[in-house]
Amino acid sequence: MEQRFAGKIVLVTGSAGGLGRGFATGFAREGAHLVLADVNMAGLQETQDELRAMGAQCSMHRVDLAVENDIEAFAADVSRLHPRLDVLINNAGLAYGEIAYGFEALGQEKWLHYFAVNTVAPLLLAQALRTPLSAGPGVIINQSSMASYLPGTAYGVTKAALNAMTYGMARSFANQGIRVNAIAPGLMETPANRAGIPPEHYDRIQSMQFLKLHGSATDIVALGLFLASDDARFITNEIVHCDAGHPFRGYRG
Ligand SMILES: NC(=O)c1ccc[n+]([C@@H]2O[C@H](COP(=O)([O-])OP(=O)(O)OC[C@H]3O[C@@H](n4cnc5c(N)ncnc54)[C@H](O)[C@@H]3O)[C@@H](O)[C@H]2O)c1
Repeated sequence: MEQRFAGKIVLVTGSAGGLGRGFATGFAREGAHLVLADVNMAGLQETQDELRAMGAQCSMHRVDLAVENDIEAFAADVSRLHPRLDVLINNAGLAYGEIAYGFEALGQEKWLHYFAVNTVAPLLLAQALRTPLSAGPGVIINQSSMASYLPGTAYGVTKAALNAMTYGMARSFANQGIRVNAIAPGLMETPANRAGIPPEHYDRIQSMQFLKLHGSATDIVALGLFLASDDARFITNEIVHCDAGHPFRGYRG
């Protein structure tokens, strides 16, 4: 197994399960030291146990990414522990339930909460970690979605704004040589999306893919590892789609 991240420090938000846990184990397998963050401590503990069983080094942190003080306190802890941060994966997000269906009936409080977690937190966290990220210099990956091309849901709107935020961050962080890209996954099986999307809806979305394949965390993790590696040193300011060719992406369909 290639060890592209031996001795590197990698922070993954939303690593209590699903794609976040996939990233954590993928980077650990290639030698990284993981910093795990989530609000779900039970899930984080499972991820940490899995990493330790692999012999990986890691730490776990409770942080509510909707709360600016929480983000700042967490970033201060990380900066103290790690003067150099090589990779920041802004994977945490609200994706299921009302955010994926509700639109007209959502009040300001819900909209602002969704934007806080899905769109603004990636910037606030990266900004609070700018010093350790500059040391490498590091790489930032934001977790977008193919739904960022579907503005008919609050989820799609927050992820569309995250695409724009990614472009803004790529310009801003380039001053320190920090690369910023986003991954826009299609339908990737995780426990949360299996629980959150009715089976008939899941099958219908999947049947629309050009390639009749079943997407899983492995596909997204492989792309994340590449984008975070030195092989991608010339790539920044990109939204990279990984969706088996899905028509949700508009004109490309
Ligand atoms: N699975 C898919 O098909 C798919 C497709 C496109 C995009 N995505 C994106 O990938 C990411 C992970 O999705 P998943 O399917 O693994 O879902 P998931 O629900 O398992 O992962 C999201 C994680 O974010 C955490 N989180 C939510 N709010 C938080 C907060 N305020 N502070 C800290 N952590 C918080 C959750 O506890 C959870 O562990 C999300 O950003 C999602 O929008 C997933």
